[in-house]
Amino acid sequence: MLVLGIETSCDETSCALLQGDGRILSNVVSSQVEVHRPFGGVVPEIASRKHMEWIIPVLKEALQRAGCTLEDVEGVAVTQGPGLVGSLLIGIGVARAIAYAKGLPIVGVNHLAGHIASVYLDDPSFKPPFVALVASGGHTALYHVVEEDRISLLGQTRDDAAGEAFDKVAKLLGLDYPGGPAIERASRGGDPSAVRFPRGLGRKEGLEFSFSGLKTAVVTYLKKGALLPLEPQRLSNVAASFQEAVVDVLVEKTLKAARKCKVKKIAVTGGVACNGRLRQKLGLRAEEEGFEVRFPTPSLCTDNAAMIARAGLKALEKGEGKSPGPMEARSRWQLGT
Ligand code: KG4
Ligand code: ZN
Repeated sequence: MLVLGIETSCDETSCALLQGDGRILSNVVSSQVEVHRPFGGVVPEIASRKHMEWIIPVLKEALQRAGCTLEDVEGVAVTQGPGLVGSLLIGIGVARAIAYAKGLPIVGVNHLAGHIASVYLDDPSFKPPFVALVASGGHTALYHVVEEDRISLLGQTRDDAAGEAFDKVAKLLGLDYPGGPAIERASRGGDPSAVRFPRGLGRKEGLEFSFSGLKTAVVTYLKKGALLPLEPQRLSNVAASFQEAVVDVLVEKTLKAARKCKVKKIAVTGGVACNGRLRQKLGLRAEEEGFEVRFPTPSLCTDNAAMIARAGLKALEKGEGKSPGPMEARSRWQLGT
């Protein structure tokens, strides 16, 4: 089955064509990062307008790169939520119009299920059961993936997402948006133990996260006589120390979840999974404890439509989505029970 995937939940306009065997024929992503950079974060109204502008060129490019036309498409998978409603509606509108015009089945996909599915794209031999950490700009959560379509939520953030913490702290430090890559760059040559920032909920038993206290700790540190811009070595030390605090919490909670669920495998996805220090530290710690850990290639970790197509594939193959009702854009939508 040839699936068209469409993703517009935040600030990436993306269309992909995916074969039933999991092979990506094309995965075109148009990022709005440059548009939102002057504002230091995503401006929802602008994001919707940019999706409207880009969705058709991106769709055309995806079809062209895949060497096919809409006539070849056999099913449509579109992100239904969670995300910015105005942005989601653009993807949903286009997806439904295509499904209606071509008489195709269409399924609405949970964006977080999409992030988890990116690991199957990266390695089709990787199969459940496993524990998945999804760490992105909007979400930070741990899941027990029992089967592809049997996912339970183990714990999520009580406040900020990990990527959001990177973005906010980068802004405080006068660094660029998005903050994750900017902090990672700034941290090079820095001492990760220079400042002992708090590990939010770190020692607590549960599998929930909290990153707002860490952000406050950076604010407090900066108020204590640190003049901005920080001199380069100090900036590197603060960036490395902050990154280490986030990474430590993500590593410990993920390992705790894997032990609790008695799985042997771990998958880490979402934009924060691009972070080199997280890859290194979780890689080492997981190996010590005998877990196999997977980080999909960075272009599949950040928002893209191939992961949405992959997450919708099974439902389409089962024959779902043949007579769809109205598809509501869901700003909040918890994955798993
Ligand atoms: O998954 P994603 O592309 O979009 C959402 O669904 O939110 O994730 C974007 C987030 C941003 O907050 C960005 O700062 C973070 O992922 N990010 C990183 C890195 N690359 C992207 N965080 C830490 N280190 C990175 N290298
Ligand atoms: Zn995402």
